[in-house]
Amino acid sequence: MKKNHKRILVTAALPYANGPIHLGHLAGAYLPADIYVRYQRSQHRDVLFICGSDEHGVAITIAAEKQGITPQALVDRFHAMNAEAFAAFGMNFDNYSRTSIPVHHETSKEFFLDLRQKKILKEKEEKQLYCEVNKMFLADRYVEGTCPVCKFESARGDQCENCGTWLNATELINPKCKLCGTTPVVRATTHLYLPLGDFQKRLEDYVHSHAEWKDNVLKYCEGWFKEGLEDRAVTRDLHWGVPVPLAEFSDKVIYVWFDAVLGYISSTKEWAQRIGSPDTWKKYWQNDETRYIAFIGKDNIVFHCIVFPAMLMAKGGYILPDNVPANEFLNLEGGKFSKSRNNAIYVKDVLKTFEPDFLRYTLAMNLPETHDTDFYWKDFQAKANGELADILGNFVNRTLAFTEKNFGRKVPARGTLTSRDKEMTGLVKETPETVGSLYEIFKFRDGTFEAMNLARSANKYFNDSEPWKTLKSEPAQCATTLNISLQIVRTLAILFSPVIPFSAERIWKMLCIGTPLSDEQWSSAGEMKLAEGHKLGAAEILFKKIEDAAIEQELAKLGVPSETETVKPIASFAPLKPAIAYDDFAKIDLRTARIISAEPVPKSKKLLKLHVDLGFEQRQIVAGIAEKISPEQLLGKTIIMVANLAPAKLMGVESNGMLLATASDGENFALLTTSKTVEQGTGIQ
Ligand code: MF3
Ligand code: ZN
Repeated sequence: MKKNHKRILVTAALPYANGPIHLGHLAGAYLPADIYVRYQRSQHRDVLFICGSDEHGVAITIAAEKQGITPQALVDRFHAMNAEAFAAFGMNFDNYSRTSIPVHHETSKEFFLDLRQKKILKEKEEKQLYCEVNKMFLADRYVEGTCPVCKFESARGDQCENCGTWLNATELINPKCKLCGTTPVVRATTHLYLPLGDFQKRLEDYVHSHAEWKDNVLKYCEGWFKEGLEDRAVTRDLHWGVPVPLAEFSDKVIYVWFDAVLGYISSTKEWAQRIGSPDTWKKYWQNDETRYIAFIGKDNIVFHCIVFPAMLMAKGGYILPDNVPANEFLNLEGGKFSKSRNNAIYVKDVLKTFEPDFLRYTLAMNLPETHDTDFYWKDFQAKANGELADILGNFVNRTLAFTEKNFGRKVPARGTLTSRDKEMTGLVKETPETVGSLYEIFKFRDGTFEAMNLARSANKYFNDSEPWKTLKSEPAQCATTLNISLQIVRTLAILFSPVIPFSAERIWKMLCIGTPLSDEQWSSAGEMKLAEGHKLGAAEILFKKIEDAAIEQELAKLGVPSETETVKPIASFAPLKPAIAYDDFAKIDLRTARIISAEPVPKSKKLLKLHVDLGFEQRQIVAGIAEKISPEQLLGKTIIMVANLAPAKLMGVESNGMLLATASDGENFALLTTSKTVEQGTGIQ
C-alpha cells in the first residue's frame, strides 16, 4: 500500500444475474479479490469489498425470453442464487447489491444527466441494425455475426467472445437477428454518445502512469489507444434497464455498461445506508487517500480501464482505479466454459459435494493470472489430496496428535535450538513477508504456492527431527521440536487464512487461541507466540481425501444440463410490449358490467354473443371465448369491459365493447372481475 493511502476500496465485477456463477467466474475475478481482501484485513487495513448483480442489458432479456419468464423474475432468481453461492464459497463482501434497486437507478441517472448537462454526451443519428420481423432495433446481443477482427462466427453485437473486441453491431459481418435468425436491415436512429476520443489524451496519461499494471491489461489498453477511441452510444432502444432521464429519450434506456460500472458506487451507497452512516461512501469514492482496486476478467478490461475512468473523469470528484488486475480465462477439461454446451461447473452444484476450501485452494493454485488455464477434475483431486490433505493437513494433524499423546494437549517447552531448529524458525519468520508481498502485487498463485512450501518444509523438519525417537533419548529436544511445530501450525493458519478461511478457522480452534483468527496480525505470523503450557484443543482431521468415485461422478455430469441453470417456466410469457405514456392508457374507458345473457354465435366455434348491463345502458358484445367457457358459466358474472371500443362486426354480429380475460386457455383462462360486488358501470383506473 502506498504511503498516502489510508484505505482500500476493492470491487469485483458485477456478474450478470442471467445464470448461475461457475468456476470460470470464480477464477477470473472473485477468488483473487477475496484472497486480496482477506490478506489486507489480516494486515489490519481499512478495506471495503463491494460487489452485486448486474441486472440490466440484453444478457438478461435474452435469457428471460429463452426461459419464458420476465426479466425481473429472472434476475430475482439468479441474484438470490448467486448471492447464496458466493456466501457458501466464503466471499467476504461488505455488500452484495443489485442494479435494479432505486439507489442504483438514481445514481445512474445522476451521472447521465450531469454528463448531458455538461454537453459531454452528444446526440447523433446513426445507422443501426433493425429486425423487420421483430420490429425492433437489435441492440447488443440481439444480433450475432462474424467478428471483423478474428472472424469468429458467433460474435455478439456488443463484444466478440473469442478475441474480446468491443464491437458496434454494424461492424459484424453477416449479422443475424438472434430472435428470428433473419438478416436485419440498416435504419437510422438517434442516440446519445459518449465521445471517448475527447478523453483519449487523459486516459493515455492515466494508463501510462501505471506501468505496474499487468501486461495483459496494459497491452489491451495500448491496442485501443492505437486504434483511436471513438464515440460510443450510451442509450439503447430497449425497455429493460435504467430509463433515460430526458423527455426526448424517454422510450430508451441507458446502455448497460454505463449503468453497470456505476453499480459499484451505488452498492457502496447501499452499504453506507445499511451501516447507518449514509455519507460514508464518499470516503471511499471521493477521497485521494483511498486506493481503488477493480478485479475483473479479461473481457471487461475496456470497460474498467477506458469507459469507467472516462465517465469518472467527466463527472469529476471521483478517484480512478489504481489497479485493474484482470485475469485471463479458466477453461474446463481442455474446452471453454460454455453455458450453451452445458460445459460448465456451477458453484452451487459443486459445493453440494465438496468443501469450499478444496475448491478455493485448487483454483488459487491454478489461477489464469498470466494466461488461460484449465480446470481438470483429476487435477482437482490430485491437488486436494496430495497437497491440502497430505502436506498441510498431515503436518497439522501429526503435530497436534503427537503433542496430545505425549505432552497432554499442552504446548511443550522450547529449549536450546539446534541448527535445524534455527533454520526452520528462520524460514518461518520470513515467509509471511514473502507470501504477503506476492499477494500485494496480485500474484495469488505464487503466494499460495509459497505458503504450501512452508508446510512442505515443516513436514521435512518434523521428519528429520524424528521426535518419536528423541521422545525417549532427548526429551527436551523432542519438546522443542513440538513447540516449534505448533508455532508453525499457527503461522500456517494465518498464512492460509486468505485462501482457505474455513480450514484456517478450524486450525485456529485446535490451537485454542482466544482471539478470533480475523483479528490476528499478518505481521506477527512469523513469530513464536504460543507460550509454553498453553492449552490446546483436540486434534482433528482437517481434510478428508476425495475418493475416485466422487470424481468419476463429476466427470459424468459434464455435458449434462444442470437444474441450477434454468427454471421450468410455468407458462410461457409473451415479451412485454413497448412502454406507453399514461395518457395513452387513460384513453381506454374500462367499466364493470354484468352479464345478463350469453349464447353461441351460429356457425362459429369461437364466438359467444353476450348482453351486458352497464347500469346506465345495456350492450351487446361478441367475445372469442366459446372454447374456453360455457354460456351458463357466464350468466350473472360481473366482468370488466372496454366500454369505448369502436363498434365492430364479428361474423356479421355487432359488438359494442370488449370483455377482458386472460389470454390463455385451460387452467389459465379466467375472466377479469372485481374483488367484491360494486355498482355496474363503475369506472376502472
Ligand atoms: N456483468 C458483466 C459481466 O459479467 C460485468 C459487469 S462489471 C461492472 O461481464 F462493472 F460493469 F459492473
Ligand atoms: Zn473476435
